[in-house]
Amino acid sequence: MKKIAILTGGGDCPGMNAVIRAIVKTAIGNQGWEIIGYKDGYRGLVMNEFVNLKLDDVSGILDEGGTILGTSNIHNPLKFKVEKDGNVEIKDMTERIKNNMEMFGIEGLICIGGDSTIYIAGKLSESGINIICIPKTIDNDIAGTDISSGFSTAVSIVTEAVDRLHTTAESHHRVMIVETMGRFAGWIALEAGIASGADIILIPEINYDINSVAMTVLNRKNKGKSFSIILAAEAAHAKGGEYVTQCDTVSDYDGIKLGGIGNHIACQLEKITGIECKTMVLGYLQRGGRPNAADRILSTRLGAAAVDAAKDDEYGKMISISGNDITRIDLNYVINSTNTIKPDNKLIRIARNIGISFGD
Ligand code: F6P
Repeated sequence: MKKIAILTGGGDCPGMNAVIRAIVKTAIGNQGWEIIGYKDGYRGLVMNEFVNLKLDDVSGILDEGGTILGTSNIHNPLKFKVEKDGNVEIKDMTERIKNNMEMFGIEGLICIGGDSTIYIAGKLSESGINIICIPKTIDNDIAGTDISSGFSTAVSIVTEAVDRLHTTAESHHRVMIVETMGRFAGWIALEAGIASGADIILIPEINYDINSVAMTVLNRKNKGKSFSIILAAEAAHAKGGEYVTQCDTVSDYDGIKLGGIGNHIACQLEKITGIECKTMVLGYLQRGGRPNAADRILSTRLGAAAVDAAKDDEYGKMISISGNDITRIDLNYVINSTNTIKPDNKLIRIARNIGISFGD
């Protein structure tokens, strides 16, 4: 009987449970395999902490946010912190992982994660571990797939939040700056900005000029629109400027900690325009709670396709969506590229044509 393990890594995200459910139901119910789930991402894989997943464990989780397995974006098995005699040593745990999997007869591992999780999976795969990845992240920044599980829900959450913030912006004649997540890709801000009718969208891929942003706001005021809505992706930055970060710490797993661009812009814009500017940081709300219908379907397709790939013994791949088709793409390609918004992106052109400014 085939024995496959799964883990969820990186930030939690709507749709992770739907993927787990699809894998378990397809693998156990349809193929008769055994499935184990490592707890808390790569930490469980290194520490050999796992549960045997049964059909009952995945009953009723399709619409639940988060992950029943737990996740982590601080445990990197390639740079694992090990305490010895009161000192902390950084170790590569690849050999230990291989031994763990061999000892328990685990043929392959399905990693459900974002770019950092998939990067690590790619390196483990290069070392000979049988790995299949499933792209999940609200950021939608994973190369090789048109869309990742969780992105659609995040866009819906931000859109609804901006719809509500319109009320305050209009009533108080204010500029509302909504800071979105997304790391170095502006997808959430771009798509939610279009969906919610934002006036200005600031993304990392197009560097803004604060005077140009101010001009758009003042032009709107001169035309009788006394409020403006700005969506700013967390890594948006001014021409020649730097990323705004929460603090100086850098994570081994995810790099710099972005955050604070909304306030940064609000302070500058209020001084230039004389109009009251307020910030709303949506933060973790964007990745919390129930997946929408599109993410439930996508996650189910990705999970079932991962089982198909394991059935074909086709490892070293990420399951991806191209158009409306499921494909298997080399991990080697995925980990050497990122999916940021290209200058000729069609949505950018459409947004500009309907009068949205990118502050450039
Ligand atoms: O990758 C998902 C994400 O939510 C990013 O959009 C954000 O920058 C980051 O994770 C925040 O990570 P953490 O959970 O470590 O604060």
